[in-house]
This record gives sequence, structure tokens and C-alpha cells, in this order.
Amino acid sequence: MDRDDPNRTLTNRQGHPITNNQSQRTVGPRGPATLENYHFLEKITHFDRERIPERVVHARGFVCYGDFEATGMIGDKPASAYTRAKLFQEKGKKTPVAIRFSTVIGGRDSSEAARDPRGFAVKFYTEDGNWDLVGNNLAVFFIRDAIKFPDVIHSLKPDPVTFRQEPNRIFDFMSQTPESMHMLTHLFSPRGIPASYRHMEGFGVNTYKMVNAEGNTVLVKYHWHPRQGIACLTAEEAEKVQGKDFGSASKDLYTAIERGEYPQWDFYVQIMEDHEHPELDWDPLDDTKIWPEKDFPLHHVGVMTLNRNVENFFDENEQIAMGTGVLVDGLDFSDDKMLVGRTFSYSDTQRYRVGTNYLQLPVNRAKNAKVATNYDGGQMSFGRDLAPGANPHVNFEPSIHNGLAESDRDAPNNPPEIHGRLTRSVLERRNDYAQARGRFCTMMQWERDDLILNMGTLLGDCERDVQERMVWHFLMVHDDYGTRVGEMIGIAPEDVAKMEPLPGQVLTEDDTRRMANLG
Ligand code: HEM
Repeated sequence: MDRDDPNRTLTNRQGHPITNNQSQRTVGPRGPATLENYHFLEKITHFDRERIPERVVHARGFVCYGDFEATGMIGDKPASAYTRAKLFQEKGKKTPVAIRFSTVIGGRDSSEAARDPRGFAVKFYTEDGNWDLVGNNLAVFFIRDAIKFPDVIHSLKPDPVTFRQEPNRIFDFMSQTPESMHMLTHLFSPRGIPASYRHMEGFGVNTYKMVNAEGNTVLVKYHWHPRQGIACLTAEEAEKVQGKDFGSASKDLYTAIERGEYPQWDFYVQIMEDHEHPELDWDPLDDTKIWPEKDFPLHHVGVMTLNRNVENFFDENEQIAMGTGVLVDGLDFSDDKMLVGRTFSYSDTQRYRVGTNYLQLPVNRAKNAKVATNYDGGQMSFGRDLAPGANPHVNFEPSIHNGLAESDRDAPNNPPEIHGRLTRSVLERRNDYAQARGRFCTMMQWERDDLILNMGTLLGDCERDVQERMVWHFLMVHDDYGTRVGEMIGIAPEDVAKMEPLPGQVLTEDDTRRMANLG
């Protein structure tokens, strides 16, 4: 190194050149050390704070960047028929994106070849501000009410005593949660271990809305399809991968982009009129359900290409913050009870995990939209969001002294008028088994075999009462499913035939018939 090159002189964060980075200052060559060692103290105290809390879920992930190019259409209509969101309007319009893929349950250094849903979270830097679409690789979820999220995650995370992931804890919870059967059937099938982040689908999972210029709304679900195709690992293959490398998926993505092999996903939406749809035997606001594509076709709305890696893992991966509350004009929430809960949770955890001013960080700030707020201060604040020419003395609104003013772009919105009593209720149309059955029936034989093997192996480690209830649920889904998992763990259908439904469980007529047949 050229020690004379002033540009490469090591300094501390105060800009003081460092003349000795090898030894602390001590009284005499053997110590003791002195307390006025500013350089040493700055260096070691910064190091002591190098980690921030890992995400409570989705701790391990990887970020890269690219763009989204719109088709301008939704089905055979211009996108404007359904949404006024600018990023969808014109064919060929490009919006920069950041994406973070992740696993869910493991910690920050855990295996990327685990059986686990994968996060698929996209931040669109639009001209109207940021839009975060925080999804997963599986189309449905374990639960349908946000109040149960800490419970489902605690059951999947390590035991608070042994700090091991324990199948008996997982299935204890799931056995009391019939709505999880659909998700479990996906998760324990071959789709439960994607071969890489490049080879998996993405789904918004929750139900959102689109709003057009007239203020009319539709319900919408989002889908990403990989142009690379879908590839998964069997449990045996995954064991080999993680035996060598815990970071297989990040490595695959990073090296593909470095090679110039840019992965692409087609982006689709499903649209439904914005009402309760009494004709369906499931609720459109239930995230344990898919919307059958034959009834609600996929409409191609664009393509995402990922073409740039991060420069610094910590700044761009650990500090990126996405959440379901981050929507742009033309996109809206539905009353999906998971979505509402998520929307509170993400920014709450990010204020704790990253800090009050997390939205000032380069990866989180709205790159393509103007930011002008009256927020002031807070830990790690580095500047106010002043508009050019605005009066710096005014950090309030309204003001007649050249402060910030509300936008006059208040576009119409026609949400349904809602009346109701305050209540704590479950959705009426639960129908917890039919779509799990549909999924089971459309699987190829080898996929069913894999599902049974994976499920039976883990259930084999559970206590008898948990095993029995799980086999009962599987029988309610499909005879073969329950019988074959039961065979693996020594439970015959007649052993569980007399079990009553769970307390409060509402069965459909079809479920009741199936239950009668079990007996
Ligand atoms: C991350 C909460 C359901 C996808 C997170 C985080 C929290 C959280 C607290 C950590 C965020 C951070 O530290 O930045 C919840 C709650 C849920 C819920 C309360 C249910 C009520 C879901 C569902 C999906 C999902 C249904 C899939 C559609 C993700 C993804 C991340 C994440 C992809 C990682 C985001 C990133 O890469 O930074 N969730 N979540 N979550 N969640 Fe959820």
C-alpha cells in the first residue's frame, strides 16, 4: 500500500488520522492502559454495537436489486380500469425494486436449505413513494387472524428450555389449529424446500385492494412466477446441501447475478369484485385459502428482473425494512384480519430493531419521490426532510409562514360503508379441509409420497395425543393422507374414528359426512 496516498489514510469517525492501529496507549510498554485512548474506545465500542437485533422472524435473508417493467394491462383492459397506481399504467414503464428473500424460522446464520416458508419481499421505489409487497413463496398461511401470530411462531421457533425446534411443540399447536392443514400440506410437500431463491414462486398471500381514478375498488391477490422454473429439494438432498453450506440460496443468487444471469419473475394479479361473495364456501379475506385460478384467472401485469447485488450486507440487508402498511395511491388494504395485524407489526418491530429514523436510511428512503415531513429528531436523525425553499423555522402544519402543506391530490375512494357491533369473532366460512384436499388430489404420486414421508417422519417424534389429532385432521382432508401418515406412526383410522371435533370447531356438511365415515 502507498502510505503516502492521503485518500487511503485510516481515520476514526471524527476524521482524525490514525497513526497506530496496533497498540493501545499504555503507561509503559506493559500497561496499565489509559482511559483517554479515544481511538481505541471508539473502535471497540463501535464493534460492541455491530449487531442489531435480528428480525424476530425471517432473520436470514439476502437482498438484491433490479426493476419491474409493467405491461400496462390487467387482463384485456388497461390497468387504469382497476388501479390508478402509476407504476402499472404504461406498457414498458420501469420502476426500480429491492427484493429480500429469506427463510422464516431459523436465526441469522441458519440453514437456507431448511423446510420452511421463504420470504419474498419486494420494495418498489415508485414516483409516488415506496410500495412494499411482503410475500412468501407459498400461497397460503398457517392462521387467519393476526392475534395468533406470536403463538404459531413460538410453536415453530426453538423450545424456550432446550432451544431446539421440537416437532411435538409444532404439532401440538397445529393439531389445535385446523386452518393450518392447507399450509402444512404445502410445506411438507416437495415445495417446502425450494432449491434456491431463484427457483421459487412468490405470493402476496393476503388480500389487498386496487382503487381506480373513480375511486372504485376491487379485491386483489398478487403472484410472482419465476421464468427460471420451480425447483425444490427432497429432505435427503437438502441434508447434503446444508451439510456443506448453510448459505446455499444466497450464494446461488449472488453468483448468478455476478455472472450476468439475471433472474426474472412474471407478475400476475387475480381480481375479485369488492364484496363478501356469499356464493363462495370460503371467505375472500381468509389467507388460508387460494382463489382458484379457473374462477379468478391470473392477469399478467409485468416482469421483474434482478440485476444488481448489494454492496454491503449490513446496510442493505439487515437494515432494509419492509411492511404491509407501505402502499401507494391506487393500492389499498382489505379487511383481511392478518393483513391489518401485519401492518401494525412491521413498522413497530422496525422502530425497535433498526431505530426511530429507519426510514432515513438509503435503502429505505423513497428514492423516486420527494420526502417532505415535519418529523424532527429522534435517535440517529441525520437531517430534516425540508422542501426546497421551505421555512426551516416551521416544523408544524398548518402554517401561513411558508411551511409544508397537504397535497391537493386527494383522489376519490369509495370503500364500502361498514356497520357492526364490536366483537371477537372467527370468519364464518372456514372450510378448513377442502382446499387442502384439493391440493393433495392435484399432487403427483411422488409428491404425495414425499409429503407423507416428511410428515410421518416429524410426527413420529411427537406424543401420542398430538399424533392422533393430526391423523384425524389428515383423514378429514383425505382418506389416503390420514391412512398413510397413520401407517407410518402406528395409528389406524379406527384408532381416531371416535374423536370429537375440536372445541368450537365448525364443520361443513361435507366434513360432517367424512367424520361419520371415519366411524
Ligand atoms: C417479516 C410479523 C405474517 C412475510 C416479519 C417481521 C415481523 C412480521 C415482525 C420482521 C420484520 C422486520 O424485522 O423487519 C408478521 C405478523 C404476521 C405475519 C404479525 C401475521 C399477522 C406474514 C405473512 C407473510 C409474511 C402471512 C407472507 C405473506 C414476511 C416476510 C418478512 C416478514 C417476507 C421478511 C421481510 C424482510 O425480508 O425484511 N413479519 N408477519 N409475514 N414477514 Fe411477516
